[in-house]
Amino acid sequence: MKKKILSLMLTAVLAMGLAVGCGPADNGQPADGTATTADGSGDASTPAASTGKRVAVAMPTQSSERWINDGNNMKEKLEALGYEVDLQYAEDDVQAQVSQIENMIASGADCLVIAAVDSSALVNVEQQAKEANIPIIAYDRLLMDTDAVSYYATFDNKGVGTAIGKYIEEAKDLANTDETYTIEFFMGSPDDNNAVMLYNGLMEVLQPYLDNGTLVCKSGRTSFEDTCILRWSQETAQQNCENYLTGFYADEKLDICATAFDGFAYGCKAALEGAGYTVGKDWPLITGQDAELMATKNIIAGSQTMSIYKDTRLLADKCVTMVQAVLEGADPEINDEEQYDNGKLVVPSYLCTPVAVDKDNYKEIIVDGGYYTEEQLAE
Ligand code: BGC
Repeated sequence: MKKKILSLMLTAVLAMGLAVGCGPADNGQPADGTATTADGSGDASTPAASTGKRVAVAMPTQSSERWINDGNNMKEKLEALGYEVDLQYAEDDVQAQVSQIENMIASGADCLVIAAVDSSALVNVEQQAKEANIPIIAYDRLLMDTDAVSYYATFDNKGVGTAIGKYIEEAKDLANTDETYTIEFFMGSPDDNNAVMLYNGLMEVLQPYLDNGTLVCKSGRTSFEDTCILRWSQETAQQNCENYLTGFYADEKLDICATAFDGFAYGCKAALEGAGYTVGKDWPLITGQDAELMATKNIIAGSQTMSIYKDTRLLADKCVTMVQAVLEGADPEINDEEQYDNGKLVVPSYLCTPVAVDKDNYKEIIVDGGYYTEEQLAE
């Protein structure tokens, strides 16, 4: 009887999960109608009877807010379904993440959810999981060079780059202007497949303007190899920006910082302040990714122009349906079976839709969507 109730509950919750879309039309509303904000706070979900199964969640770092939210959301949603959760952060240390996953396997995890520090560095430990019949779900970042991964929940990573590119294109009216604009690039970590995809999407939009001279990159650093930043380091972004400003922008202002991450936007902001730029006067257009709380506050204050909103609550919903698929035999919703070839297989994926946010739409998308409250943004 107990088992039957549990299975009914799981079916109901799964049905709710499947009903979730990740597009802008969802406007960030959580799937289950609860009032949880980005960090998972708000109405607590009703605890379910234990399934007796343990899901281990390996997250890359707590140095950036989004991963803390991702971890909290996953924990909360899995626990609400009766799973025991082992959530661990590797603080961007590849070897630490390998050890954590080894321990997760040894301590009897039934399923692994992994957001990798270095997407190619986990091949051996993933093989160990496979040999122990522990299914793996890739979370946000694709796991490369392994056939041990069952599903991948992420955002449309090329779409993130395209959205950033289109934002710059429209904001500066690149297609019609007679002006030229200076631009520098701050791209993601070379060991993260997402970073390359973002770059490709961004350049699909911006390369024609570099080619026809509307955009001028005075450092000459436009390739992914020249602009990528290992482990998404804010400090390196700041350093690079400082070097560009002193090396190439003594006589002419920098107009655009095309960055792939809110952390990079903070680094550029610090470098620009140090170089004497002023918000509202000669401050460049600065892009970002994740719509972190700090970034959203900076957007309101004018020291960052836009960010890419990725609703981690919805990503967690999608990932949880994948966990249920491998543990309970359900079918998760998949919307991409082409783009994510990890070198061993094309991983069945669900891509959530990223949304560009700026001062004109943050209220509608972020506040009305319940991601942050007005109070959080005013603190
Ligand atoms: C994620 C981004 C995030 C970046 C840095 C990427 O893998 O997709 O959302 O900004 O890592 O943490």
